Amino acid sequence: MAVRTHRQAFGLKILNGRHPRVRQLKRDGHVAEIHGNKFWNSSYLIMSHLKKNPLPKRSRVLEIGCGWGLLGLFCAKEFGNKVHGIDADENVLPYLELHAEMNKAKMTGEKKTFNQLTVDYLKDFDVILGADICFWDEMTKQLYALMGRAKKAGVKQIMISDPCRPPFNDLAAKCQDKLDNAEVVEKFLKRPVNASGEILIVRP
Ligand SMILES: C[S@@+](CC[C@H](N)C(=O)[O-])C[C@H]1O[C@@H](n2cnc3c(N)ncnc32)[C@H](O)[C@@H]1O
Repeated sequence: MAVRTHRQAFGLKILNGRHPRVRQLKRDGHVAEIHGNKFWNSSYLIMSHLKKNPLPKRSRVLEIGCGWGLLGLFCAKEFGNKVHGIDADENVLPYLELHAEMNKAKMTGEKKTFNQLTVDYLKDFDVILGADICFWDEMTKQLYALMGRAKKAGVKQIMISDPCRPPFNDLAAKCQDKLDNAEVVEKFLKRPVNASGEILIVRP
C-alpha cells in the first residue's frame, strides 16, 4: 500500500512528516524547537468557523505562532487576504514557504515572539489568528497583554483556538471577565478529522 504523505482539507494540501520535501527540510537542519514540528488540528476549528463567517477580502491577517502557516494560507486562498505569519522559532518558516508553494498561495513569515509585537507593528493588521499557541502558563499573560496592544493598534478581531489546555482556559476566562467583547465558541468537528476545542474571539 502506498504511504500517505499529505492530506487534503479545507482546500489545502497539508504535508506530513513522511513527505520527501518535509524530510529534506529536516535533513537540512530545520528542526522545530517549540512544538512547530507538524500541523496542529486546532487550525481546523478556526477554518470551519471562518467558512461560515468569512473575512472580508481587504482584511490584513496576522497569524501568530504560525508554525507551518496553514491557517494563514487558508485565509489567503479562501478570501484573498493579505497574510503574514510570525513565529518565535525560525525553523518553522521553511515549512510555511513549502506549504505556500504547494498550495500556490501567498503568505510571508518572520521570526518574532508574541512580546515583540508592538502597537506600531500591529497597526498593519485587521485580524490576528492563532491556533494552539497557549500551552504554557506564561503564554496566558503574554497573549492577554497582546490583546491590549492590539486594541490600541486598531485590530478589529482576534481569534485563538485550542483543544482547551489549562493556560488557554485561563486566557479565555480572563478575557471574558475583563474585556467587553470577548466570546468563546465551542467547536466539534468530525471532518476532516475528529477535533474539538474552543475559539476565543475578541473584538477589541
Ligand atoms: C503547537 S504549535 C502550533 C503551530 C500552528 N499554529 C498550528 O496550529 O499548526 C505552537 C507554535 O507557536 C510557536 N510559539 C511558541 N511560543 C511562541 C511565542 N512566544 N511567540 C511566537 N510564537 C511562539 C511555536 O514555535 C510553534 O510553532
